Amino acid sequence: MSNNLLAGKKGIIFGALDEKSIAWKTALACHAQGAQLVLTNAPVALRMGEINKLAEAVNAPVIGADVTNMDDLKKLFEEAQAHFGGKIDFILHSIGMSLNVRKGKHYTEIDYEWNKKTLDISSMSLHRVLRTAWDMDALNEWGSVVALTYIAAQRVFPDYNEMADAKALLESVARSFGYHYGVKKKVRINTISQSPTRTTAGSGVKGFDAFIDYAEKMSPLGNASADDCANYCVTLFSDMTRFVTMQNLFHDGGFSLTGVSEAVVNSMKEPAEGANTIA
Ligand SMILES: NC(=O)c1ccc[n+]([C@@H]2O[C@H](COP(=O)([O-])OP(=O)(O)OC[C@H]3O[C@@H](n4cnc5c(N)ncnc54)[C@H](O)[C@@H]3O)[C@@H](O)[C@H]2O)c1
Repeated sequence: MSNNLLAGKKGIIFGALDEKSIAWKTALACHAQGAQLVLTNAPVALRMGEINKLAEAVNAPVIGADVTNMDDLKKLFEEAQAHFGGKIDFILHSIGMSLNVRKGKHYTEIDYEWNKKTLDISSMSLHRVLRTAWDMDALNEWGSVVALTYIAAQRVFPDYNEMADAKALLESVARSFGYHYGVKKKVRINTISQSPTRTTAGSGVKGFDAFIDYAEKMSPLGNASADDCANYCVTLFSDMTRFVTMQNLFHDGGFSLTGVSEAVVNSMKEPAEGANTIA
């Protein structure tokens, strides 16, 4: 159902790889709410070709940009503004990549060159995007920027590995830049801390299947889906949330504030003695 919450708004969506991607669902939701979009991803991701299906569905151009390359980002913002015929109202940063996770390196043994890449792609890229927009004055007043994160930034999830550090840095960049962009132009910047979700990036984490089941049991509402995350993004891009900024917002069905759930406790109980005998 559309309420046209984003009618007249123009946004750039980073990170739609395939139809499971949170960015993919968010592009569809923003389009359904009346937004005009530009889609972008790394050149290597564009070569997969999947994004063209999304481009057609949301009637948006696709502009390649490696998010660690300032020239690519400048070109993206120039071309996006030319396409829109004006400035940008919202940005979704839905990007994450860890070579140490991919190559199965244990957290205590990470390769530091790969780690630099992880932090550049997954965290400082938000700074690079904001800096490009800032230098070009490419965002409208009351613009809204959302980046996706995970609760491993606050609490230990051992298999999340160096991505935990990357997310902590990402959330800090959102806060710090959120201050400066708020003062300068009333632009708001938030992170959404999403439930584990079956996507290409999510499934790369060791033990993901067991973990997603555990999170489902631990969350009073169950895990939040990618479609629900997309709807939450829409609200943050809309004018209904204009004074929300510099926040890390949990979109996790209540997982973050649940110490333990009855479902998890019950799954840990030894079967009672004689439980299988017929009375
Ligand atoms: N899936 C989950 O369980 C989950 C949970 C919480 C947060 N998140 C976060 O959500 C975001 C989106 O991930 P997803 O789960 O939809 O997976 P995804 O694999 O669909 O998306 C990750 C995207 O990052 C892009 N990317 C990687 N390197 C890039 C580069 N150099 N330049 C530009 N783009 C690059 C990829 O091409 C891909 O489109 C990530 O920040 C992820 O950490 C995911």
